[in-house]
Amino acid sequence: MCGIVGYVGRPGKTTGDHGALDVVLEGLRRLEYRGYDSAGVAVLGESGVESRKKAGKLVNLINELEANPLPESLTGIGHTRWATHGGPSDNNAHPHLADGGKLAMIHNGIIENFADLRQELLAAGYSFASETDTEVAAVLLGDIYAHAGGRDLATSMQLACQRLEGAFTLLAVHEDQPGVVVAARRNSPLVVGLGEGENFLGSDVSGFIDFTRRAVELGQDQIVTITPDHHAITDFYGNPAEGTEFHVDWDAAAAEKGGFDSFMEKEIFDQPAAVADTLLGRYDVDGRMTLDELRIDASDLAGISKIIVLACGTSAYAGSVAKYAIEHWCRIPVEVELSHEFRYRDPILDAGTLIVSISQSGETMDTLMAVRYAKEQGAKTLSICNTNGSTIPRESDAVLYTHAGPEIAVASTKAFLAQITATYVLGLYLAQLRGNLFSGQIKDILADLQDIPAKIQDVLDRADVIKELARSMPDATSVLFLGRHVGYPVAMEGALKLKEIAYIHAEGFAAGELKHGPIALIDDGQPVFVVVPSPRGRHSLHSKVVSNIQEVRARGAKTLVIAEAGDEAVRDYAEFVFHVPETPTLLMPLLATVPLQLFACELASVKGFDVDQPRNLAKSVTVE
Ligand code: M6R
Repeated sequence: MCGIVGYVGRPGKTTGDHGALDVVLEGLRRLEYRGYDSAGVAVLGESGVESRKKAGKLVNLINELEANPLPESLTGIGHTRWATHGGPSDNNAHPHLADGGKLAMIHNGIIENFADLRQELLAAGYSFASETDTEVAAVLLGDIYAHAGGRDLATSMQLACQRLEGAFTLLAVHEDQPGVVVAARRNSPLVVGLGEGENFLGSDVSGFIDFTRRAVELGQDQIVTITPDHHAITDFYGNPAEGTEFHVDWDAAAAEKGGFDSFMEKEIFDQPAAVADTLLGRYDVDGRMTLDELRIDASDLAGISKIIVLACGTSAYAGSVAKYAIEHWCRIPVEVELSHEFRYRDPILDAGTLIVSISQSGETMDTLMAVRYAKEQGAKTLSICNTNGSTIPRESDAVLYTHAGPEIAVASTKAFLAQITATYVLGLYLAQLRGNLFSGQIKDILADLQDIPAKIQDVLDRADVIKELARSMPDATSVLFLGRHVGYPVAMEGALKLKEIAYIHAEGFAAGELKHGPIALIDDGQPVFVVVPSPRGRHSLHSKVVSNIQEVRARGAKTLVIAEAGDEAVRDYAEFVFHVPETPTLLMPLLATVPLQLFACELASVKGFDVDQPRNLAKSVTVE
């Protein structure tokens, strides 16, 4: 939540055609998916700090800058906001100014003790122009700078951070110190980008991906000062610290729409590659899993007695799919828990528990806090994550990266399929370590997995059929989704997609639960998607789900069926059938989810909504 950019360049070295402002605006354009309630920038010009900010999307700020330009500068900061304290107004937009307008600050996170600090600063004679916790931090920093901080921005930031509680990334500039941006982080994301004669800060690497692919990840409770030629890291008490440099292995083009109408649609079409890349290099030619990248000892992993998956939203549905596969292949009990519920229920954890956190961003605060709690209780932690340099993998004992590439649309699509793939990789590896599956079986499952990208492509090649269905339902006000076994989390995910981007009431149910209550919702014309399991296979629930279709249809539902190729039994009971290619049941979510994603994406577009930036949401949820 909230995107943050900082930049300093040397004269003649700056990448932006017109200096800091260009770089900062480009960074904000790429980070806008993190929040779009308002946007603002501040630059250090010859006449000191100058700032512009506007409620609403970045385009409003750009219009404001055209009407009211900023001077050329080599030092700048920029912010795109997801509102927490104070509504989305011009006043509450960042940057916030302090020290008589000489200091500008931007912030991501929540300062939990802001009310006490605000009282203290009011009593000291300060006043506030906004309702935000950020302005309190800015005024505090300004006060410290003018008094205890010795008019040094980095020292003052250290002293200010010692007084702040909660989660924050703070960036500040002061007109006394041109060519310097000072930043601090606790529990909120911040990455440094290294250039030649210029340096960058971003909430994530997309904030500077157009300019450099050399990045430095920071630790918890650290302060970084960037100048055009240096970056220096300390803790909150001024002790020097080291960051970890890494290379960003995707380029700026990966974060462009590439001819699609929306990032979401493009990302749906990226899915064959996301799955293939997540499998790549994780098994050898003999079909043995090779996860040398894991930092947990193979013997420790072989001995685990329980897995708890921690995640939120779509990532939690990936965990629910994983439960079926890992329990089946490894015979290890798997619990799936929403991160925000986990640490409030006194969970039973020990050294035999493996926590598997799943997070696209690696910054979801609920999941981060749950992982920290589990570590404190002695559990081993493994993170499945799509974002290099992010906090959750850095704080986990081991990490298995998904290789979906940058996911920009707020609604997660390709990350979901890549997460499921990564959990399969993990499950097969654990089965191999524990001797639960014969190597021939692992090899067969891997062969099926390798076929998945082409099968997803087959679904995508028939996207128009799904789009047409969506276009025929512009007035739908409620859509239900039913599934069983691994089809159940697919149904939940289908419903979540529709809710979040098309603002249509949608619920996913386990089809067997229908008769225990939800069937009362069925009325004439109620659209119901049904994810039908394969008619093949030992434990086929096929006939039971076909009965469920008939039950809702008998009560007037419009039945929209996702079934396996060759399953003609469903035709008699369906208004609409979409066949996905044959695949083993456990792998079916990688195919059956895709039409539901396409449906939501198209219906949201038909309704005229901003598919990539749905209302009230942000991509990376860095508040609890
Ligand atoms: O970055 P994470 O995977 O931790 O994010 C978790 C959820 O916030 C995320 O999946 C959210 O539900 C998406 N908007 C779903 O499309």
